[in-house]
Amino acid sequence: MLGRGSVGRELDDRVFKIAGKAKNAIERFGKENVINGTIGALYNEGEKLVNFHTVVETYKNLPSEDIFAYASGITGSEEYKEAVKRIILGRDYNSKFQGHFMEVVATAGGTGAIRNSLKNYLNPGEKILLPELMWDPYKLMAEEVGGSFDTYKLFNENDEFHLENFREKVEELTKEQENVVIMINDPCHNPTGYSLSMEEWKGVIEILEEYAKLKNIILLNDMAYMDFSERDMGEYRKIFKNLSENILVIFLFSMSKSFTGYGLRAGAQLALSTNEDIIKEFENASKFSCRATWSNISRGAMSLLSEIVLDDRKYRKLFKERESYRKLIKERAEIFLKEAKDVDLKTYPYKDGFFITIPIENNIEEVVESLERENIFTIVLEKGIRLGVCSVPKKKLFGLSKKIKLYMK
Ligand SMILES: Cc1ncc(COP(=O)(O)O)c(C=O)c1O
Repeated sequence: MLGRGSVGRELDDRVFKIAGKAKNAIERFGKENVINGTIGALYNEGEKLVNFHTVVETYKNLPSEDIFAYASGITGSEEYKEAVKRIILGRDYNSKFQGHFMEVVATAGGTGAIRNSLKNYLNPGEKILLPELMWDPYKLMAEEVGGSFDTYKLFNENDEFHLENFREKVEELTKEQENVVIMINDPCHNPTGYSLSMEEWKGVIEILEEYAKLKNIILLNDMAYMDFSERDMGEYRKIFKNLSENILVIFLFSMSKSFTGYGLRAGAQLALSTNEDIIKEFENASKFSCRATWSNISRGAMSLLSEIVLDDRKYRKLFKERESYRKLIKERAEIFLKEAKDVDLKTYPYKDGFFITIPIENNIEEVVESLERENIFTIVLEKGIRLGVCSVPKKKLFGLSKKIKLYMK
């Protein structure tokens, strides 16, 4: 019965299965006896989902028509677009990016931003270049729009961003394809928690400039976890100034983590270019995709974001609140990583963000089974396990590295 393109399509629900196992264990043995490292959302030390106070209060005080009415435009309200520009490019974006062109399109979550970008820039039959370790839905979205993917190695032997492999892969795709669409999930990469240094970002742009002489380069920067990084945003923004016309940068924004607004399903694409026509066609095609997929997004979510971001006092309040949780995650990560170092347990290079990943080359199934027998649940990757330091309280992290190391032996 399925249409030809959809035959055989089924979602691999491994992640949900493991999360289900953790939930069952909590019901059977009690929360205090289970370590649930599968969660990808922010939880406090009492293991409760965090909803930022500033966000909840602002949302509750929105007039009801601002929640229930349709949004004012297909690509989002003007206030929302302004707020997204300020978040990503800074409040002085007009002067800092003089001579540049930009447009924001509101999307259904960060997921919608990725999907819209792939729909309009990945040619059918062509490959998107993804990181070797990644948030898996990238692959699904590439397939959905008739494309496929290739991957670049993330780290070299010094645990730095593997610029050489990145170059090789960009070169390969430049030879084979019309458009080269590249995903960089940064900062706070999921699943490793890596964030590129400014030097590494400069290296990436140098490579892109070189190959942009030959083909169109579309750089997608997935920033879903941007507010949990220590990054100097001023320095980071400079990297994207005055790029050549053949490079289109699309920043992929999400309200899920930064505003603890996971279920509100709001995000955005922000396209930046030195060519006005490229931005015009971005807006036209993205608007078409929005209308053909979800029409317009939640008015309440957009009002919420702009109410906070365009009001200095509220935005400062949110910033302070979020910072306290960013520091909490950092403390949790430090507990785990210090002990990992003590027992010689290798992790991928973690800088900041929600997750730490431990590479496991050989006996991964045995390790996972042993951990689960002890009521320790993690997300199982092909060659490693991902631990959510966004949700596991500090007291449960003491001794965890040692256990993982033990089972790996
Ligand atoms: C790396 C990454 N990108 C994008 C998203 C999309 O988030 P959402 O669609 O909830 O905004 C997620 C969510 O977990 C993610 O981990």
